Amino acid sequence: MEEFAEIKVEGKTIKLPVITGTENEKAIDIAKLRAETGYITLDYGYKNTGATQSAITYLDGENGILRYRGYSIEELAEKSNFLEVAYLLIYGVLPSANELANFEKSLAADINIDERVKNLLASFPAKAHPMAVLSAAIGALSTFDVDSQNPNRSKEEVLKTIISLTAKMPTLSAWAYKNFNGEACVNPKAGLSYIENFIYMMFGKDADPVIVDAINKLLILHADHEQNCSTSTVRIVGSSNANLYSSISAGVSALWGPLHGGANQAVIEMLEAIRDSGTPLSVWIDKAKDKNDPFRLMGFGHRVYKSFDPRATIIKKAADDVLEKLGIQDPLIDIAKQLEQVALSDEYFKARNLYPNVDFYSGIIYKALGIPTEMFTVMFALGRLPGWIAQWKEMTENKEPIGRPRQVYTGANDRPYVAINNR
Ligand code: CMC
Repeated sequence: MEEFAEIKVEGKTIKLPVITGTENEKAIDIAKLRAETGYITLDYGYKNTGATQSAITYLDGENGILRYRGYSIEELAEKSNFLEVAYLLIYGVLPSANELANFEKSLAADINIDERVKNLLASFPAKAHPMAVLSAAIGALSTFDVDSQNPNRSKEEVLKTIISLTAKMPTLSAWAYKNFNGEACVNPKAGLSYIENFIYMMFGKDADPVIVDAINKLLILHADHEQNCSTSTVRIVGSSNANLYSSISAGVSALWGPLHGGANQAVIEMLEAIRDSGTPLSVWIDKAKDKNDPFRLMGFGHRVYKSFDPRATIIKKAADDVLEKLGIQDPLIDIAKQLEQVALSDEYFKARNLYPNVDFYSGIIYKALGIPTEMFTVMFALGRLPGWIAQWKEMTENKEPIGRPRQVYTGANDRPYVAINNR
């Protein structure tokens, strides 16, 4: 039976259809609201607004559930690997052994990047942040793949672009870092896996299996997160029929902010500041609670998780495992654990359902793996790429209309122009 919600505006009642998702999530379809009442909805930060119907990722923030294409994040992080998850997200199904092997083969075949991209990177100033460089370089890739710019691209051309960008992402990420360090870019080496090659291009050496395993897990945990800030950016840029490279480049820029993916860098910087300050944790907690102080507890809180972030639970354990396996003792992890304990027992954090998020412990693992702080958000982007691609692909295949929110205008009313001499 079709369900409706009723809304009464200025004495007029209209019926709006209720949409129910496969996990019984409910939405009121307001598509006809303006036409029938003249009203729009206003929702800063889209806290209450569904922008699409999507079959990619299911997230239940109240109960800490995250699933990609129906598979739980816990199971995928434990049993799968990043490329299998990437395939799952992009194509919608788990690959057969043959399909996965072919996917890996096509990525390996497309890994090399035009040498001229190195010149582009070299033109940035010393210590250029790798996220800025990554965003620019991804945007620039469309100039080497002119077919990708064709708005009437075929399905086959789209898949070709998807493989090309996925294949090149570790190379671009490593090169952005080399450029930051003022070192020469290292070309990928044939015969190495996706993650091994990334480590090779970063550090010029073969990868320790502990490191490969840990990176696999971290990339899986970051691979998709439904309609977050960067993913919504990718979808909205793509909705203008912009090509995949431009859309992903915009997603990288959105991810960079410290309230989103940039939080992993900000967390480590915060933990280091706490360590170096010598002030007790309670002082930092008070700062985070003080509305006149811009300081926030980085790695805490989440727009949609209101009980716990399931990725944080997995990462916290992984951080312990990695540090133990690599025989590393990092005082930052002790500070992080103490901070977590103090915050979780504090009324301010309890009342607002503020828990550690995915970024609270991920930086500690990256640090243990020898990945420099400025690269943390690039690691997030490397992991998020298949999610962005899957969302862009879904949006274009569903032929969703161009994204174009409305506004409530609050500026000056109509007034005559005054010539400059009379002002
Ligand atoms: N430290 C102190 N207070 C906080 C924090 C925090 N980290 N996060 C939220 N609050 C307070 C906030 O001041 C507000 O208080 P009040 O109701 O008294 O005004 C209340 O909690 C609700 O916060 P909000 O800012 O309205 O919530 P939001 O959904 O708009 O923001 C957030 C979510 C993630 C941007 C925010 O929690 C935050 O800034 N966290 C720190 C940055 C961070 O770790 N970001 C990574 C998110 S996970 C990775 C990803 O997927 O991007």
